[in-house]
Amino acid sequence: MSNIRIAVVGATGMVGGAFLQVLQEYDMGGHDYTMMASARSAGKKVEFMGKEYIIEELTENSFDSGYDIALFSAGGSTSAKFAPIAAEKGCIVVDNSSQWRMDKDVPLVVSEVNPDDIFKNNGIIANPNCSTIQAMVPLKPLYDAFGIKRIVFSTYQSVSGAGVSGWNDLENGIQAYVSGEDYELQKFPYPIFGNCIPHIDVFLDNGYTKEEQKMINETHKILHDDSIAVTATCVRVPVFTGHSESINVELGRSFDLDEVFEVLRAQSGLVVEDDLANNVYPMPIKGVDSDDVFVGRIRRDFSVENGINFWVVSNNIRKGAASNAVQIAKIIIDNMK
Ligand code: A2P
Repeated sequence: MSNIRIAVVGATGMVGGAFLQVLQEYDMGGHDYTMMASARSAGKKVEFMGKEYIIEELTENSFDSGYDIALFSAGGSTSAKFAPIAAEKGCIVVDNSSQWRMDKDVPLVVSEVNPDDIFKNNGIIANPNCSTIQAMVPLKPLYDAFGIKRIVFSTYQSVSGAGVSGWNDLENGIQAYVSGEDYELQKFPYPIFGNCIPHIDVFLDNGYTKEEQKMINETHKILHDDSIAVTATCVRVPVFTGHSESINVELGRSFDLDEVFEVLRAQSGLVVEDDLANNVYPMPIKGVDSDDVFVGRIRRDFSVENGINFWVVSNNIRKGAASNAVQIAKIIIDNMK
């Protein structure tokens, strides 16, 4: 099918820039693209697949001329207002914000985990939280093979997950450490350089952060199983890109560790890196340009029946945001043909 019209909303942002890079890498030229952002950026230029595009201001009329797909990463309030307008005009929105994720009419999709949910959309498909996406890739095959009773997530999340200002806080902190000069924090409540901050997104009445609650709720929705007990602690760490997670799971039945390795090795989009003799395990520093999720340190949890521990790393801007959204868009386009 030719002349598919695709809008990139938030094209000037960190994830928006990654959308463009991934679209190019996935060879998704041959479609008509429009770049949109706020009035602040209207008229600015972005380069994409060797062509220059002028940024258009996103308005209520932006979708009047008929779009097939819109990739949104422009914040929750922008998605709240504009995704329904686009959907109303017949465009399928793949939304990277948290705005629509728990809406019962909106599928929440990890491309290798629940692609069939894409086709239950009513015009909006939600991209899950970055930490949820990378956790689901190893958890889904384990769920299918063994069942899951309980999950304990502990995350170590990089500053790029907090956008440009989060990145700046780490970079400015490093420079200030070297120069001895003061700097102003742009994003976090405390310096992130030389620190770990157990506070991502706002605190809720139940004592959890919204990020932690997202992981709990989104896990239930993506695995279609509210009976799994899930808890989470989410921590910001001084890493530029790449989220890491320690995941502890109580499986639903007894298992051989070899069987677990086999199941994980068979999962698409997942790479097992687990060679203790040679100090091989996933680390954010190794996975910066990849769309894969990496799993290692796979071992039995001897403190409970049927327990297992593992360590998961992925690029939060790519698989955790832009690449998963583009993979969803690609599945939609492939099914239009
Ligand atoms: P702009 O650059 O014009 O502000 P990040 O999360 O990296 O900060 O990026 C946010 C993205 O969302 C940017 O592209 C930003 O555009 C865009 N954006 C923010 N608010 C709006 C809005 N009201 N309408 C359209 N785009 C918006």
